[in-house]
Amino acid sequence: MQNILINPARSVGTISPNIYGHFSEHLGRCIYDGLYVGDDPDIPNVNGMRTAAVEALKRAKIPVLRWPGGCFADTYHWMDGIGPKESRKTIVNTFWGGVTENNSFGTHEFLELCRQLGCQPYISGNVGSGTVQEFSDWIEYCNMPGVSPMASLRRKNGREEPWNVVYWGIGNETWGCGGNMTAEHYADVCKNFSTYMRGYGGPALYKIASGANGSDYHWTKVLAEKAGHCVDALSLHYYTGPSRHKGRTGSASVFGPEDYYDCVSRTLFMDELIENHTRIMRNVRSNKKLGLVVDEWGLWFDVEPGTNPAFLYQQSTMRDAVVAALNLNIFNNHCDGVVMANIAQTVNVLQSLILTEGAEIVETPTLKVFELFAPHQGAKQLDSYAEAGLVGTGDDIVPDIQVSASENADGEIFVTAVNADISASKEVVIRIGGIKPESAEAKSVWGDSITDKNDFGQPEKVFIRPLGACVEDGAVKAVLPAGSVTSFTVRAK
Ligand code: AHR
Repeated sequence: MQNILINPARSVGTISPNIYGHFSEHLGRCIYDGLYVGDDPDIPNVNGMRTAAVEALKRAKIPVLRWPGGCFADTYHWMDGIGPKESRKTIVNTFWGGVTENNSFGTHEFLELCRQLGCQPYISGNVGSGTVQEFSDWIEYCNMPGVSPMASLRRKNGREEPWNVVYWGIGNETWGCGGNMTAEHYADVCKNFSTYMRGYGGPALYKIASGANGSDYHWTKVLAEKAGHCVDALSLHYYTGPSRHKGRTGSASVFGPEDYYDCVSRTLFMDELIENHTRIMRNVRSNKKLGLVVDEWGLWFDVEPGTNPAFLYQQSTMRDAVVAALNLNIFNNHCDGVVMANIAQTVNVLQSLILTEGAEIVETPTLKVFELFAPHQGAKQLDSYAEAGLVGTGDDIVPDIQVSASENADGEIFVTAVNADISASKEVVIRIGGIKPESAEAKSVWGDSITDKNDFGQPEKVFIRPLGACVEDGAVKAVLPAGSVTSFTVRAK
């Protein structure tokens, strides 16, 4: 029996709903054939947006969607994607397979998608190959309520009201695909772009600088020091893939325990990354709170056999569910520093929530975890601790139980627990300091095996199931299945 202890008297803050954010790039079949199906009569859609995908993402309470990239963003000229579709430019998507991009999904379509999803847009502007003027015009086009050249152009294209886009990214991976810059050089570029990012009478803009790659702490230090006063947040990108130097397989769905624990152990490094980056930002800018936006995270494997290597299409198993939950618990527990996170990517690319084939969609185990965790959004984070044993293989030894907890406005306490041990279930007792639980409801995402996945033409193997939980002796007791993700809603007397 292992204790999970919750201290309702201690909290680091409110869990921003944006921690549960998503990312959609013009990459492979994420937008075209994924979220956007145009006027395909065989796929149910509203204004071109795939209905089944919109409904599934709404169930998971999608709060914010990042677009148009990724690496694509720094090649994207937004004016190519406005106006009558028949006169939009056809371009080459040079980063992702050299495929043709007809620009039929542009600014209006993205913002229509966000409207249908009921989420905030987060636009990543082109710094690598764009201009300060082009970036500034995009903001004016989206946000200017009165009369101006860009507002008139927007109206000519059929949109009267501004969209009031708040979140703007100043380039993407400017240390790599976004321009191969040094931190020092990018800091200057960032200041330059930021200076001309005006509000245009709309909402205050939330400016996100292109931040570090994994543990590049030098990047964060330099950027915070030199450009921290011009932005609201710095981003961080960290993907968990297999450690190939240890000979780990790169397959998303065919793997053994060594591959699994390798991914779990690499995922838990996210905790250290957040600690270090936020500490650096605090130290460098003690007079201003800079947020951390983890706007690309997730598992990155080899593409599925027979698919285009540039499309980054991979399946998703219970391993993805465990990794998603571990990351989300880490973000919750760091909600004083992490203001937004965006898993890569929403549909048909990397650790997706949805896979599509024609009119059919598959809801992946990752989607189930986002749905399970949704009650954390906007709730007050509570201090939590799990008495954990150690499990793993070789030098990938990890804690078996990992948790986070929150309290909503009605005083309900919500706990999410991961049992990362794939060979044994765990009996847990949840004790909440000073509170006598009256009732508890548990739900769990698990399959028969860690390699279980949902697939086309088959009944779902991985889904949210009710789990037995009882209140006894002032505590909540349950058994967490091996390799599972569980949530508890606890009501007090
Ligand atoms: O998500 C795929 C790619 O990974 C993104 O385009 C880029 O930002 C990152 O390297």
